[in-house]
Amino acid sequence: MKDLFGKALLDYHNGNYSEDIITSTNISDEDELPLPYLFRGFKEMPKLEQKALKLVKGTILDVGCGAGSHSLYLQEKGFQVKAIDISKGAIEVAKNRGVIHAEVKNILDETDTYDTILLLMNGTGIFQELVQVSKYLTHLKSLLKPSGQILIDSSDIKYMYEDEDGGFWMDAHSNYHGELDYFLSYKDEKEVPMKWLYLDFDTLKLACDTVGLNCELVLNGEHFDYLAQLAL
Ligand SMILES: C[S@@+](CC[C@H](N)C(=O)[O-])C[C@H]1O[C@@H](n2cnc3c(N)ncnc32)[C@H](O)[C@@H]1O
Repeated sequence: MKDLFGKALLDYHNGNYSEDIITSTNISDEDELPLPYLFRGFKEMPKLEQKALKLVKGTILDVGCGAGSHSLYLQEKGFQVKAIDISKGAIEVAKNRGVIHAEVKNILDETDTYDTILLLMNGTGIFQELVQVSKYLTHLKSLLKPSGQILIDSSDIKYMYEDEDGGFWMDAHSNYHGELDYFLSYKDEKEVPMKWLYLDFDTLKLACDTVGLNCELVLNGEHFDYLAQLAL
């Protein structure tokens, strides 16, 4: 990984903002990811994220914290938060913004237990592909205190396969429709292609059943997105 995501966050944080991140997928054209969005305050957050931040309790793990926007908000509210991300640049930015406990770490290497685990901005993305969902959920479950919760958001991206006539062009023989190849570029450099998973609620619930997690729908968003609460 070249950590172009982290490089972009560092540029923005250091006052060198001139371009946004460009993303695309195997089923969609190029799109801009505006850097200011990654530094959003509570008021700029989608309702699903605001709801998640209102539901937190106890000690918190913010997984894939990025620039640390959720962690900062919660820390200011008096919560004890640990923020982790695999991006070195993201963690540098989160620390410089004031996140006290921020660490470069893959979620699969985390071992402490928490009352609340947050995975926001398509939290299921880090599972990468359907076949890995049980592994990640089982690990996340092991990080929960007895009455703990996981708050995670995602979307059913079936709408991305809809053609102008309202029909769907999904290939029945291909993989699960939420498994995408994700491409990111920044300032003319291309990141190593990644896998990124969008999970519809029913599929997430089914996966939770198989690993012994209770999965409740908390809120539907405005565009096929949702917030779920997982617990023991
Ligand atoms: C879409 S960004 C979301 C950032 C932040 N949560 C936000 O809402 O602004 C996803 C983040 O997850 C991080 N990430 C991806 N896989 C990870 C893993 N296995 N463990 C920890 N962080 C991961 C990425 O580096 C990236 O910063």
